[in-house]
Amino acid sequence: MKFICTEDYYHMSRVAANIISAQVIMKPSCVLGLATGSTPLGIYKQLIRWYEKGDLDFSNVTTVNLDEYKSLSPDNDQSYRFFMNENFFNHINISKNKTYVPNGLELNEKKACSDYNSIIQSVHGIDLQLLGIGHNGHIGFNEPGGAFEKETHCVDLAESTIQANARFFSSFDEVPKQAYTMGIKSIMQAKKILVVVSGENKADIVEEAFFGPVTPKVPASILQLHPDTTVIGDKDAFMKV
Ligand code: GLP
Repeated sequence: MKFICTEDYYHMSRVAANIISAQVIMKPSCVLGLATGSTPLGIYKQLIRWYEKGDLDFSNVTTVNLDEYKSLSPDNDQSYRFFMNENFFNHINISKNKTYVPNGLELNEKKACSDYNSIIQSVHGIDLQLLGIGHNGHIGFNEPGGAFEKETHCVDLAESTIQANARFFSSFDEVPKQAYTMGIKSIMQAKKILVVVSGENKADIVEEAFFGPVTPKVPASILQLHPDTTVIGDKDAFMKV
């Protein structure tokens, strides 16, 4: 694994955006695996700025997002599809039919998951997968204890994940309790992985996930075994290592 420690959140976002833009420039038809959460927001802002300056062209790019809450529709402002449209896709020249997010409205779990697996297969592999990390070490919505070899599946969200994400909803009860997520197996098949971490409150999990044992109890720990993973964090997130 490669670690890049930056001064602050702004620089973490810039370095990560640079790596993503290099990918788009080198392979204009690349497949980007994208993530939600607050950490990648600065990256999306930076990429939009470079696009507006004319430095980036997303017209041939395909994106595959990690996860979606089960039962939320794309126009629900808490859905991950809405998040991606609002914070990234609506501001760049990507064609929306090449941006994929699991279908939260498909309540038949088997169908929702097999449809998404077919999409992942049809794009012929992810060139670069962007990841944030949850406080319990989840990536996407792969919660502790899940098997490493899973593809897209439906998860019961951990209590701590529901608590952490409740800040975006008007109450705890409104947070969906289930989600569809790309599995660890598909994440590990990405050619390149970029993990972004920011803030003191991620310091414990950064130490555990990237400097502790590889265990399904800490899903992100599997990334230690990926041949091309870069973790970019600000100095607060790296304070324990
Ligand atoms: C959610 C997402 C994850 C994300 C995590 C951390 O649970 N499913 O993909 O990594 O939140 O989010 P944040 O970056 O806001 O800490």
